[in-house]
Amino acid sequence: MAKRPRIAVVGSANVDLTTFLDQFPKPGETIFGQKFDLGFGGKGANQAVAARLCGADVFMVARVGDDLFGPSTIKNFENLGIDATHVRQVSGVSSGVAPIFVDPSGQNRIIVVKGANDELKPADVDAAADMLKSADCIVLQFEIPLETVYYTIKFARKNGIRCILNPAPAQPTDIKAVADLDYFVPNESEAEAISGMPVRTVDDAKQCADKLLASGIRRVIITLGANGSLLAGSEGMEHVPAFSVKSVDSTGAGDAFIGSFATFLGEGLPEQEAVKRANLYAGLSTTGVGTQKSFYDRARFDAEWSSRSKG
Ligand code: RIB
Repeated sequence: MAKRPRIAVVGSANVDLTTFLDQFPKPGETIFGQKFDLGFGGKGANQAVAARLCGADVFMVARVGDDLFGPSTIKNFENLGIDATHVRQVSGVSSGVAPIFVDPSGQNRIIVVKGANDELKPADVDAAADMLKSADCIVLQFEIPLETVYYTIKFARKNGIRCILNPAPAQPTDIKAVADLDYFVPNESEAEAISGMPVRTVDDAKQCADKLLASGIRRVIITLGANGSLLAGSEGMEHVPAFSVKSVDSTGAGDAFIGSFATFLGEGLPEQEAVKRANLYAGLSTTGVGTQKSFYDRARFDAEWSSRSKG
């Protein structure tokens, strides 16, 4: 039986307000959307939920606002069996929210209002230190203050804990501060923004990964949507193709990749195998609407994996 990983996510929690539409309004114009969906989201929370649904024990460190969304976000973690001891409400600020717009091809455009996520400080990491030290992997994103991200990377290194950073949404990054990571996992647009190089093809991704590795980052995975992922380290690079799926909403697919990859790796699977499974887990998440609610549980995922990985 696989080892049950213990994964801590230090990151964001949002409420997603998703509108499905055929076209965008012009300035001053009012149009009808096709459908609306309200759900729990935020890159940190989504990654925590993906890891939990894949079977990990998950611990969340986050901040929510003193509005309607705050308590329900905490309840959502608890209902899913995620330890929310270090998810606290901050008074006087809103919860993080994300108005999301999805076009008929399933492609999304997201605006994040960080709200309480911006109140997650290095002192909160210290307050959660005992819990974090019990984890075998810490997962981070860029929807909380960067000083907290950099501080947590140092904390993970000092305590010998595996650390995975998803630099999303992309921001100017202090490469020295992230060089100590185990895995740096951007998508194409984040890799492009951070490296300053175009990332449109697998070959572009290889050149970009070369640059990131040369700048001191140890291991890089660039997720490429329908093109799969590129895994790169000092020993070389490997393109791991995606599985074909019928996509209706790609929102949260990157988060599904990170949470499931952390779990598969924590179970002791070889890295390339963990990436391959995470590609499928992320792809399957695009076949449903919403973020967390489109994620597969382990039984459904295993059934898909065994039918698709044969031959
Ligand atoms: O990655 C998808 C997520 O980005 C959404 O859930 C939204 O909240 C934003 O954080």
